[in-house]
Amino acid sequence: MIPHVLPTYNRADLAFEKGEGVWAITADGTRYLDLGAGIAVNVLGHANPDLVAALTDQAQKIWHVSNLYHIPGQEKLADLLVANTFADTVFFTNSGTEAAELAIKMVRKYWDSEGQPERIEILTFEGAFHGRSTGAIAASGSEKMTKGFGPLLPGFRSLPWGDMEALKAAISDKTAAIMLEPIQGEGGIRPLPDADLKLIRELCDQTGALLVLDEVQAGMGRTGKLFAHEWAGISPDIMMVAKGIGGGFPLGALLATEKAAKGMVAGTHGSTYGGNPLGAAVGTRVMEIVATPEFLAEVNRKAGLFRQKLEALVAAHPNTLEGVRGQGLMLGLKTKVAPADLVKAGYAEHILTVPAADNTLRLLPPLNITDDEIAEAVARLDKAAARLDG
Ligand SMILES: Cc1ncc(COP(=O)(O)O)c(C=O)c1O
Repeated sequence: MIPHVLPTYNRADLAFEKGEGVWAITADGTRYLDLGAGIAVNVLGHANPDLVAALTDQAQKIWHVSNLYHIPGQEKLADLLVANTFADTVFFTNSGTEAAELAIKMVRKYWDSEGQPERIEILTFEGAFHGRSTGAIAASGSEKMTKGFGPLLPGFRSLPWGDMEALKAAISDKTAAIMLEPIQGEGGIRPLPDADLKLIRELCDQTGALLVLDEVQAGMGRTGKLFAHEWAGISPDIMMVAKGIGGGFPLGALLATEKAAKGMVAGTHGSTYGGNPLGAAVGTRVMEIVATPEFLAEVNRKAGLFRQKLEALVAAHPNTLEGVRGQGLMLGLKTKVAPADLVKAGYAEHILTVPAADNTLRLLPPLNITDDEIAEAVARLDKAAARLDG
């Protein structure tokens, strides 16, 4: 008999009743050190007092009104995002997938408003992940996600990951956009070198193609900049944000320049819940905390410490581990074993991690993890790896 919850997930045999900072706690009080943070979501840890206060304060006032009316909290959060990024305008969603859907619609509408409605081809890279909607799976192009769901939304062309020669050969003045994650998350914590991101921006400028960056996983301080593309000194035309921006409350956003957004006039897009007062209140508090030089400097300092310890861990387990990659606190351990086996060994040591493609274990801790918690995490990973060394 089919379970009452549609069985689309491979769930671990674990359930958590509450959380405190970096700890997720089961009903019997067992504490797990959470380096997954709900897959890069809980940027300020579990039950962060500032976020609990922001949410409960708003919950006492008004929960939901719809976008039929002005939502002052939403406007405040949009102001903060615009002040801290390349963007001129923001649309709020409930998830990363919805932001990706809007990105695709915005690209098409842009070229339609430019009098080139046939200009729909979006270039992407293998290993991409933008969500599970019909548009987002078409964008990823991966058979694992698309098999059985055809016919797919047309207009995507997937190129080998990071292959700049293939990109130069594929792009033309008929290309609508290039869409990519500056650091692939699900694809295995694969950063694109800054020089490649710069080249991509140049190719977009030369051809008129829009640059769409998916910072759903890499954004909101995770790499030590508010957004990962800032490391390369470039800016996109359109950017998807989600996960960390809500700190655990379902919230996403699509940021764009005025030029890229020019086709999106009244009536062209909408969402019942997107940017509702609860989400906007939490997102605003997250931005106020994360988008400060002091907070981001700490992320970078802790990332350096964590990375150093992980390099030593890799050296100590040459049969199980191969290397460290990533940027800031978006870290990957390249494994010689199946990453899912290391995740399981971690459960036995009461530490939570997330597998990814390309034989990679993802470490995506809350950004306010302490030095002691980093040391504890590495000690537990050491024991987990030792379980597999033989
Ligand atoms: C880079 C990226 N884009 C989009 C998504 C989809 O976001 P959501 O699951 O919130 O719809 C994810 C989720 O893992 C992601 O990592």
